[in-house]
Amino acid sequence: MRFEARILPDAAVPSRIRPWSLHRIVTIVPVAVGVMLCATVAAIIVLNARIAIDEETSSAFRTAQATVAVRMPPRFAGQDTMGQAMQLAAEIDALRHLSASVTDNHGHPVTPHAEGAALTEDQAPGWFSDLMRPELRSDRVPISHYPNVLGWLVIQTDPADEIAEVWEDFRIIMPLLALTCAALVGMSMGFSRLILRRLRAIQEALGAMRQGDLDRRAPPDRLAEFAALANGVNALADHLTSQRAENRQLQARLLTLSETERAKIASDLHDDMGPQLFALNAALSQARAAAREVSGPGSAQLDDALRAILVHAGAVRDSARTAINDLRPMLMGHGSLPELLGELVAEFAEIAPDVAIDLDCDGRIAASEPAETAIYRFVRESLLNAVRHGKARRIRIEMRRTQDQIVTQLRDDGRGPSGRGSAGGHGLAGIRDRARALGAAFDPPRRVGAETVTELRMPHR
Ligand SMILES: Nc1ncnc2c1ncn2[C@@H]1O[C@H](COP(=O)(O)OP(=O)(O)OP(=O)(O)O)[C@@H](O)[C@H]1O
Ligand SMILES: [Mg+2]
Repeated sequence: MRFEARILPDAAVPSRIRPWSLHRIVTIVPVAVGVMLCATVAAIIVLNARIAIDEETSSAFRTAQATVAVRMPPRFAGQDTMGQAMQLAAEIDALRHLSASVTDNHGHPVTPHAEGAALTEDQAPGWFSDLMRPELRSDRVPISHYPNVLGWLVIQTDPADEIAEVWEDFRIIMPLLALTCAALVGMSMGFSRLILRRLRAIQEALGAMRQGDLDRRAPPDRLAEFAALANGVNALADHLTSQRAENRQLQARLLTLSETERAKIASDLHDDMGPQLFALNAALSQARAAAREVSGPGSAQLDDALRAILVHAGAVRDSARTAINDLRPMLMGHGSLPELLGELVAEFAEIAPDVAIDLDCDGRIAASEPAETAIYRFVRESLLNAVRHGKARRIRIEMRRTQDQIVTQLRDDGRGPSGRGSAGGHGLAGIRDRARALGAAFDPPRRVGAETVTELRMPHR
């Protein structure tokens, strides 16, 4: 599993600051410290041991030189000088840190060299011996029997046994140290995974909340610090949820107030202007009937004037109808939502006869008045946009009821939104505001294949 230490990737981190990966730091730093520690310990062991070996072999060498000076057999004693020298060489060779041998005048060994030293040196690998071995010292003392020189007693320092001892310690200490460092690195990596897993859970919860899912909560945690963090995030989500509910209530209240105001204006127009326009029409019809009875030179002009007044009165009635319809669609004809949509489609067919509009909806669909008004306005604005902006030739309106929503969808074969949007357009913004206030979801026009699709999902009330 990979862990990313970068929290909230698209959060507001200034672009100049490149965040560091916690996981990487927690991995690299202990590894570097471990390697440095091992290297330092190894260097200290080697340096100290090297100095100690040098001192010990030098001291043993000086002692051996003094011993040879004292015990070397005298030249005229008539004794077995060579034998005694060989005995002395064997004794020195048996000492630690030294080797001794007797050679003839041509440098060929007369006594076999002790084998113990060779065996112990084998125990340390060559590179280690090379690192530890101090400068070798040697001395040759003549073995003479007057007047002849019989051979030479050769003494030299031999640090092999000491090196082997240091190697024994070294090969125990270093693997132990390396294992300890590896364990520490493993622990710190495990710890970082633990932290990052928790941070990731909180990050996921925050991401979901940012996407609008305010029911999502950060998981509880047994570590006090993360529990506090999760509690803080959850408290923030609670606060946002209550703010959102309050906001919705306010928007709904605003919408209701504005719709109530519009409804009142529409009712006043409808109730005051309607009867008066009706009376005006009736009076005009009577006046035209009476004018037809009148004969004389001005009767034809009177009839023309009355007909013109009738046409204007009709235009005023249509304008009033349109205004009322715009202010409060549900008032018009007191029909159901599907019926009103049918009327709307018929009106559009008159305005734009080249556009084929299909309406497919269940005639029994009904909702609260604000919801129905919002759906009606959505369909009207979307139709208008499809014709005006998309230059659509075919529009399909579908309205169906699901378990908890009324889904209204418009599909048109127009050229679709340009992507730049409209700076001064109010249509989509109005739909969005009304949808938000009523808890509905609005998908603005988008291309799906060769069609432009717009959708509103209104919850049942
Ligand atoms: N069906 C559609 N086909 C193509 N473009 C669309 C469609 N619906 C909306 N648009 C694009 O979206 C923009 C915004 O639409 P909106 O209804 O908000 O504003 P408007 O129609 O330009 O102005 P207003 O509705 O205030 O008269 C439009 O200008 C248009 O570019
Ligand atoms: Mg518009």
